[in-house]
Amino acid sequence: MKIAICTGGGDCPGLNAVIRAVTRHAKLNFNMDVVGILESINGLMCDPPRIRHLSLNDVAGIIDRGGTMLGTSNKGSPFKDPTEGPKAIANALKNWKSLGLDALIVVGGDGTQRMALNLHHAGMPIVGIPKTIDNDYSPTDLSIGFLTSVEVAANAISRLHSTAESHSRAMVIEVMGRDAGYIALHAGIAAAANVILLPEIPFNYDAIVKATEERRMRGRNFSIIVVAEGAYENGKAPMFRSSATGTVHLGGIADEVARTLHTRIGMDTRVTVLGHTQRGGSPVMMDRILATAFGVHAVDLIAKKQYGHVVTWKGGRVSQMPYNEIVEGTRAIAPTDQFIHAAESIGICLGR
Ligand code: F6P
Repeated sequence: MKIAICTGGGDCPGLNAVIRAVTRHAKLNFNMDVVGILESINGLMCDPPRIRHLSLNDVAGIIDRGGTMLGTSNKGSPFKDPTEGPKAIANALKNWKSLGLDALIVVGGDGTQRMALNLHHAGMPIVGIPKTIDNDYSPTDLSIGFLTSVEVAANAISRLHSTAESHSRAMVIEVMGRDAGYIALHAGIAAAANVILLPEIPFNYDAIVKATEERRMRGRNFSIIVVAEGAYENGKAPMFRSSATGTVHLGGIADEVARTLHTRIGMDTRVTVLGHTQRGGSPVMMDRILATAFGVHAVDLIAKKQYGHVVTWKGGRVSQMPYNEIVEGTRAIAPTDQFIHAAESIGICLGR
């Protein structure tokens, strides 16, 4: 067999680990040829297709490397356009045939897996592997990259305690996650935040002020406030800002919280936006392990010709779910989540 792999959407630590696992398992145990499609599924739609052959040596020494050796793109789906969409699919099918491919592994979050589904419906045998630092892809409890982003964010937040205490300040840290608060909640708990604001729980300033004042009355003259980029005040909407290149992203809520807190209680505040540090660099060990197990499972599914599935981590096991059973592609933290309960039980203010 000749199989292909591509990585789509925002990059994250662990992508090279999954490329390595797929290539090694496919070659060592099934004698398959492995081809990497460059810059997401887009590489398959170009004329000529943008690919590179992957040998065992090509994937040697990359398990700990951040980013993706195949490149990626998160510029949206070409399939949404009624004229360009069918052309893109036709091009992909043409290239698929000329390259003699038998199956494609698509590593990506919800957006990329939706693109993959279009190709699957057009007749390509596809297996998906979930990755996203946001951990918001619904079929799986864990996606590649999430644990590393939590580690990076928690380490950064931990470092802010001493400077916050020295200057009697409130440090407001904005973390990524889009409309889900998984990074904020997990990193906030791990780094002993006093307040964590999540998109899932629209916040009230009264609650944040109360929590900060109570600490000051106990002699704790500083506060650590973790804000998910998608968090927003009750009754308002999430905040966006445009990048230097004109694209619009969630962001700005940490500035707003810092300003309001200063106005309300006169506390000195500083803002730290962690940004893409949460996506860069080497994957933590568990992301390397997860990526390896996901890659191996995807190849096993292909060997059994079990296509149209996405690999999942559910109940502590690697498994798979058919694409057509996925109803809502993205998810957010449930109100009954055990970590929401844990945070509030130890006195972390969630802004309510
Ligand atoms: O989905 C991953 C993510 O890092 C989000 O947490 C963040 O909002 C977004 O991507 C940033 O995207 P870009 O790479 O386009 O700046």
